[in-house]
Amino acid sequence: MKSLVVYYSRTGNARFVAETIAAEVGADVEEVLDLKKRSGPLGFLGGGSDARRGKETEISQNIKSPTGYDLIIVGTPVWASRPSPAIATYLRKNDLSGKKVALFFTQGGKKPAAVEQTKALIPNSEFIGQLSLVNPLTTKDESEKQIVEWCKTLVS
Ligand SMILES: Cc1cc2nc3c(=O)[nH]c(=O)nc-3n(C[C@H](O)[C@H](O)[C@H](O)COP(=O)(O)O)c2cc1C
Repeated sequence: MKSLVVYYSRTGNARFVAETIAAEVGADVEEVLDLKKRSGPLGFLGGGSDARRGKETEISQNIKSPTGYDLIIVGTPVWASRPSPAIATYLRKNDLSGKKVALFFTQGGKKPAAVEQTKALIPNSEFIGQLSLVNPLTTKDESEKQIVEWCKTLVS
């Protein structure tokens, strides 16, 4: 099964998860860049506001087209209880119909969030699983174990 991990990360947590998954399942990786400034306090506020309103943003051009893959694993930080604008935009722009899709989330709070809003963006995909992790960079070893276990459920 040819797999692609697609992610956006502002501060590295989702990147860590994406790279761990890719190493585990032998997937290619596509990082989505948000071309809007998201750093600093204003970037934080604007990001939360854009996510809450479901506003699209400008993202980098795909390097790898998802067309040639069977499984797409999509990861995003949770912003305002929603997917980041970069990943919401990616999912609107790229048709993942008929593909197996798994979702992962990194977040500050403990209660899983943004799952339903993100699933709503892949209505014609075969949804095969989800993983939510609380700032995994702060508990790298424990998170890595969880990610490895989750990967087994995707490829079994
Ligand atoms: C604009 C903004 C909004 C956020 N909103 C939430 C939220 O609603 N719930 C939550 O649990 N964490 C929230 N967070 C925290 C991030 O989801 C969390 O730190 C995540 O692990 C960051 O991933 P990253 O390092 O890949 O960017 C927010 C962070 C930002 C920057």
